[in-house]
Amino acid sequence: MERENFNSRLGMLLAMVGSAVGLGNIWRFPYLVGVHGGAAFIILYVLFVFLLSLPLLISEFVIGRASRLNAYGAYDKLAPNTIWRYVGFLSVLSPFLIIAYYDVVGGWSLHYFFEACAMSFSQSSEIAGMFSNHISSPFAPLFTMGLFLLMTCVVVLMGVQSGIERFGKIMMPLLFLVILAIAIWVITLPGASEGVKYLFKPDFSKVTGKTLVAAMGQAFFSLSLGCGTMLTYASYAKKSDNIGSSSLQIAFADLLFAILASCAILPGVFAFGVDPGEGPGLIFETLPMMFAAMPLGSLVAIFFFLAVLIAALTSTISMLEVVIAYLVEEHHASRKAAVWGCFSVLFLLGVLCSMSFGPLKDVTILGKTIFDCFDFLAANILMPFGGILACVFVGWKMKKPDVYAELTNEGSLRFMSKIYPLIYFFIRYVAPAGILCVTISNFLL
Ligand code: PFF
Repeated sequence: MERENFNSRLGMLLAMVGSAVGLGNIWRFPYLVGVHGGAAFIILYVLFVFLLSLPLLISEFVIGRASRLNAYGAYDKLAPNTIWRYVGFLSVLSPFLIIAYYDVVGGWSLHYFFEACAMSFSQSSEIAGMFSNHISSPFAPLFTMGLFLLMTCVVVLMGVQSGIERFGKIMMPLLFLVILAIAIWVITLPGASEGVKYLFKPDFSKVTGKTLVAAMGQAFFSLSLGCGTMLTYASYAKKSDNIGSSSLQIAFADLLFAILASCAILPGVFAFGVDPGEGPGLIFETLPMMFAAMPLGSLVAIFFFLAVLIAALTSTISMLEVVIAYLVEEHHASRKAAVWGCFSVLFLLGVLCSMSFGPLKDVTILGKTIFDCFDFLAANILMPFGGILACVFVGWKMKKPDVYAELTNEGSLRFMSKIYPLIYFFIRYVAPAGILCVTISNFLL
């Protein structure tokens, strides 16, 4: 059977931006900006994106498009019968582990979307305690988690063009409009200007070693790097696409969404004097409080949780595709069998992660709950090492002329041919060394 490709460049870009823009942009970035000195964090983040993430994104593009295979098959084809195939296997394993906990949060956003439609966020007295009650109850979160996973599976089941590409083409512009509209609404509220000032005025006194580690981790997670996702999507790219400019556009779009989400969240948090909490607390506790106090808040809440839902869905879709491409191409499974097989296992893993906020909250490994273990393993270990190894593969293992041919489309892209030595230098030295340093400091700080 012929392998599917993305039908258009725009479709490919939107699918990749869909993967990149997710919960990381909506809940983590604004929070990190809030605690690490506003624009000071943004500046560092942008620096990391350009110095480390972009070379890695380009490397994943090169591996995916040169091989036109799933993550495992890609390494195996470009370096036959070597241990590199295990790196490919790791790249399939990490997105699988990420979905197992990411879909729990996806389920919460679906639940909150339903609650918002039922106008539950009009009274702040009703909101207090709502989040902790919901996540700690044994069964209620499982229903929306399962539904969220089902939605992911249905899109992936429909295939690369009719499922993933079409979904991204409709949902990403919608997501952009919704976040833009909320940002404009929030920025113009009385009292919001303090928040806007905070967001765009760098306060370097808040920058510490932890800020660097956080900025780097975010630059990595937000661009879905080090876990086979971009590599797999790139394997569906056309040979005529310009890898350099596509990577740059994806990085810019991801940054734009992160800044827009911060504009939609932080000024309101300032205007209503609520404390921005970390992670889930920010969007599931603080923001509903803000919606209750804000004019037209009930309506804004519906659109906000719709945005969170879309952002989360396009990300899990990209992760699932990594695993499905592997099962279909390496194990000759049918797409249908692969998707439903994954659904069953992921649902069970999701149940464990979800219950680690309720009945299983005392089950810990090295002091971490099941949910935190999955997150720690994927985000702090598998993703950074997957990333370093992808750069090392392109910079040291692949033949230089092959990398050149892929990056410059056989020498036909003049600008890329000119800056090729610089990109190659970054892929070979700067990115792997930089990612390694930051990953190690993460354990030491
Ligand atoms: N980039 C996504 C976010 O910012 O939420 C998270 C993510 C998606 C991580 C896909 C890894 C991945 F493979």
